[in-house]
Amino acid sequence: MKYLPLFALTIGLIGGANAETLTRDNGAPVGDNQNSQTAGENGGNLLQDVHLIQKLQRFARERIPERVVHARGTGVHGEFVPIADISHLTRAAVFEPGSKTPVFVRFSTVIHSKGSPETLRDPRGFATKFYTEEGNWDLVGNNLPVFFIRDAIKFPDMVHSLKPSPVTNQQDPNRFFDFFSHVPESTHMLSWVYSDYGTPANLRQMDGWGVHAYKLVNDKGDVNYVKFHWKTRQGIKNLTAEEAAEIQSKDFSHATRDMYAAIEKGEYPQWDLYIKVLKPSQLNSFNYNPLDATKMWLDVKETKVGTMTLNRVPTNFFQETEQSAFAPANIVPGIEPSEDRLLQGRVFSYSDTQMYRLGANHQQLPINRPRVVVTNWNQDGAGNYGQQASTVNYQPSRIDVRNEDPKGLYSSKPLSGRTQQKAIEKKLPFAQAGAFYRSLSPEERQNLIENLAGDLGKVRDDNTKHIMLSYFYQADNDYGQRLTKAVGGDLVRVRKLVQ
Ligand code: HEM
Repeated sequence: MKYLPLFALTIGLIGGANAETLTRDNGAPVGDNQNSQTAGENGGNLLQDVHLIQKLQRFARERIPERVVHARGTGVHGEFVPIADISHLTRAAVFEPGSKTPVFVRFSTVIHSKGSPETLRDPRGFATKFYTEEGNWDLVGNNLPVFFIRDAIKFPDMVHSLKPSPVTNQQDPNRFFDFFSHVPESTHMLSWVYSDYGTPANLRQMDGWGVHAYKLVNDKGDVNYVKFHWKTRQGIKNLTAEEAAEIQSKDFSHATRDMYAAIEKGEYPQWDLYIKVLKPSQLNSFNYNPLDATKMWLDVKETKVGTMTLNRVPTNFFQETEQSAFAPANIVPGIEPSEDRLLQGRVFSYSDTQMYRLGANHQQLPINRPRVVVTNWNQDGAGNYGQQASTVNYQPSRIDVRNEDPKGLYSSKPLSGRTQQKAIEKKLPFAQAGAFYRSLSPEERQNLIENLAGDLGKVRDDNTKHIMLSYFYQADNDYGQRLTKAVGGDLVRVRKLVQ
């Protein structure tokens, strides 16, 4: 008889009968896995039946908290290959010509819980972990190019309004339009979400966007601002509301199923990575603020810098997809967050929630572990299986010297002025929403109006409804007029509300 460690049993022997002995978590053999230990034929169960107790205990602890947003998701492994030399912009190893970096991507929906249908109208998360030779870089984006808000301080309120009501446990347009009627800059993102882009046909046929401006830093410490865009090679395909409802009536997992089927057939989905770059001196050259996550950099040209191929599904959904932890704080030399106020909040929030969801040592889990040696004096904590062989767990020290690397220094910038709590100056809440509306085909516009009217028409408060209508009217008069008609609103009242 040969005992395998539990780990080998769970990962090594999937699919098919095996001759290995069943054990408890302490490695001892299980004598009987079908009959618990009792006091005779009709006596009670015995507390000493450690196998029964362990089995029930472990079962009761199988669930961990689901992600507070983006709970429903699908993960896939792959690789990223750069195709352009951008060393003049960044010293990041992931963009070094000739390199190949393993990646893990998790696609998700945002608002509803872990078992919800994949057809729901929602942005799709598009989070990529690059296991680079200088540590992990996470590009945590969505399938839409902008966001609803531009300051992290609004995020918990926004999510509360979009999640099911704490009283009825139902999602309610009365609640989220109440919130959005106070946030005119949401008009752009709402237009994307209520268009057919809010119901992508699957995960392969959609783009991914970094949304925020980030910073690229080269060897000399020069900084440029950048936006990232994954362009699907499969062609974009969206669903109409009717098509989404039809699929939903038959299948809650159509997108995961489609991804797994494509990979099984060897039809590996690919995305090209494009960047848009602005010099710091160009930040003031637009009628919007390029560090505002509700805006696209419409007039800036895109350059292709690499290609990602997804080619392997996880061997265990929980261990890989559920335990994966993507964080905008996972940055590498040559890539930094910009001053975007939304991104700055995200840099804190993800690692924080993951310490709660997965524990302080979540970066030691196989799916999150960097592919380089991790050396620091962060220590102990629940679930720690890193090893510290040195008695020196402090710095500086002459006994055990760990070198700092100037490559890891953050970029530096001059500062002046006062601390403040003020909205940004260039707000431009509606113009890009109008441009988006006008870029749609007549059929897509019609779908957008119908989708929006479906939810806005449920809003009981007339004031809220007309404020929202005035936002869409200011984006584009035709857009606002058609929507007003579709929800039986009053156009005169809408025009009076124009800011
Ligand atoms: C201040 C604004 C935001 C905050 C505070 C925030 C917070 C969070 C939190 C707490 C999670 C759960 C993470 C986990 O449990 O592992 C999450 C997931 C996620 N967020 Fe955000 N978020 C914000 C804005 C955004 C934006 C603008 C994007 C897209 C550019 C985005 C994309 C994602 C994605 C893709 C995930 C799922 C990652 C995964 O697959 O595990 N979030 N967010």
